[in-house]
Amino acid sequence: MPKPVLYLVRALPGGHFDRLGGRFEVRGGGPAPAPRAALLAEAADAEVLVTSYIDKVDEPLLAGLPRLRHLASYGVGVNHLDLDACRRRGLLVTNTPGVLTEATAEHALALLLACARRVAEGDRVIRRGGWTAVDPAFLLGTGLDGKTLGVVGFGRIGQAVARRAAAFGLSIVYAGPREVAWPGARRLPLEELLAVSDFVSLNVPLTPDTDNLLSAARLALVKPGAIVVNTARGAVVDDAALAGALRSGRVAAAGLDVFRDEPHVPAAYLGLSNVVLTPHLGSGTRETRSAMAAMVVDEVERVARGEPARHAVV
Ligand code: DGY
Repeated sequence: MPKPVLYLVRALPGGHFDRLGGRFEVRGGGPAPAPRAALLAEAADAEVLVTSYIDKVDEPLLAGLPRLRHLASYGVGVNHLDLDACRRRGLLVTNTPGVLTEATAEHALALLLACARRVAEGDRVIRRGGWTAVDPAFLLGTGLDGKTLGVVGFGRIGQAVARRAAAFGLSIVYAGPREVAWPGARRLPLEELLAVSDFVSLNVPLTPDTDNLLSAARLALVKPGAIVVNTARGAVVDDAALAGALRSGRVAAAGLDVFRDEPHVPAAYLGLSNVVLTPHLGSGTRETRSAMAAMVVDEVERVARGEPARHAVV
């Protein structure tokens, strides 16, 4: 009896897929996704497709996978999946929530601190021989203690950012669809949050409602000299408007981990010294990226045993 086919769009850390060899014929798993035609040829009879937070699954791809039953996505965000098409096909779609919360929040703080204390700029100055005299007024940053952090999207990751930020002496305000019982934190309309926050952390999922959430009009409301950190999705921000605000100094600095069309980074950011750029490293610790893969494998096994999925999106 041939084993069902599981197709892995790209290699995932931790070697966890070896566990599935007894139950599935595991295909794919190269360092990068195969070109669409090759992927369709190799995965044509797959019952399980494992994709990642960056690899799009659209209707034409699904149409080429007639035996597919389970689409398992590595990551919490699902904006890269055509969920309506999955529903129409009656597919089970799962993701990996929770396991990457703390790592992503850590990275948001890393970017916030790097911007506030000009870590990347300082590093670049030294490397190019630009630190030639001791000057107490050189490359001054901004302190966190006593300032306000506005968290846009107060779900698991937003709250984990707030927990860490509070330890640095920041007061927390947040914008989100629900009131959250959080001692001392105030829920504000987004426009008001932008006007009062010294730091803004974007932690919303990308949906039609959050696409371009930080638009030119909203950037015009940002408190002058604020610092913006985005570890959510690039498309939440209007890049041209943010680059303009960074050039004018209206936004003092930005820490950006995510981009609309990864791995492409808008050229407008590259020449700006007040932007810290990282290549989608929010969940990028060895522990977390491996735990995410283990979670995918657990879910695939669970579903194969006929048990209900623990993290069904659709
Ligand atoms: C996710 O899981 O959606 C994250 O962006 C990966 O870092």
